[in-house]
Amino acid sequence: MPRTSIVAGNWKMNLDREAAIALAKAVDAGRGQAEGVDVVLCPPSVYVEAVGTAIGSRDPSQPASVGLGAQNMWDQPSGAFTGEVSAAMLVDMGCGYVILGHSERRVLLGETDDLVASKVKAALAAGLTPIVCVGEQLAEREAGQTHQVVSTQVRGSLAGLSADQLAKVVVAYEPVWAIGTGKVATPEQAQDVHALIRSLLAELASPEVAAGIRIQYGGSVKAGNAAELAAQPDIDGALVGGASLEAEGFLAIAAAFR
Ligand code: PGA
Repeated sequence: MPRTSIVAGNWKMNLDREAAIALAKAVDAGRGQAEGVDVVLCPPSVYVEAVGTAIGSRDPSQPASVGLGAQNMWDQPSGAFTGEVSAAMLVDMGCGYVILGHSERRVLLGETDDLVASKVKAALAAGLTPIVCVGEQLAEREAGQTHQVVSTQVRGSLAGLSADQLAKVVVAYEPVWAIGTGKVATPEQAQDVHALIRSLLAELASPEVAAGIRIQYGGSVKAGNAAELAAQPDIDGALVGGASLEAEGFLAIAAAFR
């Protein structure tokens, strides 16, 4: 099954309102460079609505050419969860996607595979496409534990999903040692883990469903290294942090996945 590549910008906790709107407009204007690739912007949650307006995602008569996503959400529909937002709230603000289980949340905030799995179910129930992040830390890679760590995260974070639900998920492989460090995984290192993830997805769903699931690579992706990653058979896009904060470079990454 041919997979539509997906390149998402994870803006993390950067930019102010004005800069967020300007960046969104610049990506929207240049989006034609990456025709046939799903391009998604994930601003800080307080700017989601403004960015959605800037890219026209809330005008139902205009199919949004740039997708809108959030960087996190809570797994419950409402209630006493101070500081959190629900899946329905994100949909209400025009989101079609949500990043879940990013390593910064796993490491800094103690998010577990169980919590991520619960969030994935809530996101799917609300009609959001979850971008589920997994990836080993440097010490784990050096100890030869990469496959074991990633397998545990994939099985745990996608636990309890039906094949139909799994078909709607995007997985992002982000080796923690490559995030924000300028140390990108080699295409071979990335492909090795992407192939592992696809084989796990085949076990969890079926080989046919697994063949249709998009697996992004993330970790120091730049315009200069995107093409060699895109050339790998199981790399179907990128989750881009630092390089997504500038429209030209981000669009060049997206274009590499055409
Ligand atoms: P980076 O971040 O591109 O800045 O390494 C990627 C990510 O954390 O999603």
